[in-house]
Amino acid sequence: MNITQQNSILIVDDTPNNIRILFNILHEVGFQVSVVKSGELALEKVTFIKPDLILLDVMMPGIDGFETCHHLKSEESTKDIPVIFMTALAEVENKVKGLKLGAVDYITKPIQVEEVLARVNVHLALRNTQIQLINEIHDRRQAEIELQQTLQELQQTQTQLVQSEKMSSLGQLVAGVAHEINNPVNFIYGNLTYADEYIQDLLKLVQVYQQHYSNPVSEVQTVIAGIELDFLTADLPKLIASMKVGAERIREIVLSLRVFSRLDEAEMKAVDIHECIDSTVMILGHRLKSQRDREEIQVIREYGNLPLVECYPGQLNQVFMNIIGNAIDALEISKDNTEIYPTIHIRTKTEGDRVIICIADNGSGMTKEVKQKIFDPFFTTKPVGIGTGMGLAISYQIVTEKHRGSLHCVSQPGQGTEFAIVIPVKQG
Ligand SMILES: Nc1ncnc2c1ncn2[C@@H]1O[C@H](COP(=O)(O)OP(=O)(O)OP(=O)(O)O)[C@@H](O)[C@H]1O
Ligand SMILES: [Mg+2]
Repeated sequence: MNITQQNSILIVDDTPNNIRILFNILHEVGFQVSVVKSGELALEKVTFIKPDLILLDVMMPGIDGFETCHHLKSEESTKDIPVIFMTALAEVENKVKGLKLGAVDYITKPIQVEEVLARVNVHLALRNTQIQLINEIHDRRQAEIELQQTLQELQQTQTQLVQSEKMSSLGQLVAGVAHEINNPVNFIYGNLTYADEYIQDLLKLVQVYQQHYSNPVSEVQTVIAGIELDFLTADLPKLIASMKVGAERIREIVLSLRVFSRLDEAEMKAVDIHECIDSTVMILGHRLKSQRDREEIQVIREYGNLPLVECYPGQLNQVFMNIIGNAIDALEISKDNTEIYPTIHIRTKTEGDRVIICIADNGSGMTKEVKQKIFDPFFTTKPVGIGTGMGLAISYQIVTEKHRGSLHCVSQPGQGTEFAIVIPVKQG
């Protein structure tokens, strides 16, 4: 940067003659020149206008040039303004003292035009280069920070991609399994009705035979005794009924698996949220069952009257899966407390044009410090290899960005945790 006409110079001197000469020299070459007549006034002035350079007289009434310089150099906002002392040619001591106090140079009196301009120009050029360098360093730091941020975002996107890829392959697997099971189970379920009918008919026939041939030949009697006909007759309908219950259960599971995978539904659509929650609970069913050292986790559902909600069902299932999964983890941690029945409470309701889904557990709960960080990517309190710390970060993004909703958490150590998912019924 060159010395420009914008460069401003402050003259601090109490001698009218000096002021006049300096002002004329500097003004003539185009600098913005201002003048004050004492050290006090100089210090006052620099609080609101910062000159690019100060010409400072040593001998002044009130605080002298040295003290003024000392003040300027000890203030953060003025310490970088170059100061040039003005002193008589013979006063070597003054020159040394001034330089020691932080002045960059001195001008000897009586004032010489060439000397003033030469020294002023050198120091303004230095000052301008210094400012330019500082700005460059600042710009570079800024660029570095931006790069760091971009890198972080990239990392986050990558993990999200991995997560959603995982979810999508889980979805594909689930959909595939569901499809494979669907046909044979329908086979069984469909034929059970006929099998039931035929068995009833055959039993009726046996009954009629028994009525009319109450005294059959001994071979028949032996078979009747061998197969325990009375027991068989009583047990067979029960057996068929329980097979029906079993087959129905498998059909429900297959249906849940299909609802959960929802691979075909990358588009926004109006869905039954309760169906989504139920399918997720179903998928996590094996984790709810009682274990050697823990009772079965009860899932209590209090469903309100919800309209169909416009959403990306696959993504919302991922949110339910993460939150319910975390609740189960928290109940695992607190399993030693035998006074508590491990419970997950799911409530839904409509409030205005939004639906609220609350998922609460009576597990370990969390401290204020943990709670503050749960939505941060990669934050986890779980052992390495178990938690990635991405579950809630992704859930937060799905709820707030993809569905324009909000995700809240209330929790205290030992008091359990409640998450509230709030999403608008319509996205438009
Ligand atoms: N219901 C809860 N009760 C207690 N702490 C919880 C609960 N839900 C979340 N947390 C805390 O929040 C942290 C972050 O949860 P998040 O789901 O993001 O990651 P994670 O469960 O640790 O790992 P993963 O990526 O496998 O889900 C957990 O490690 C846990 O400390
Ligand atoms: Mg989790």
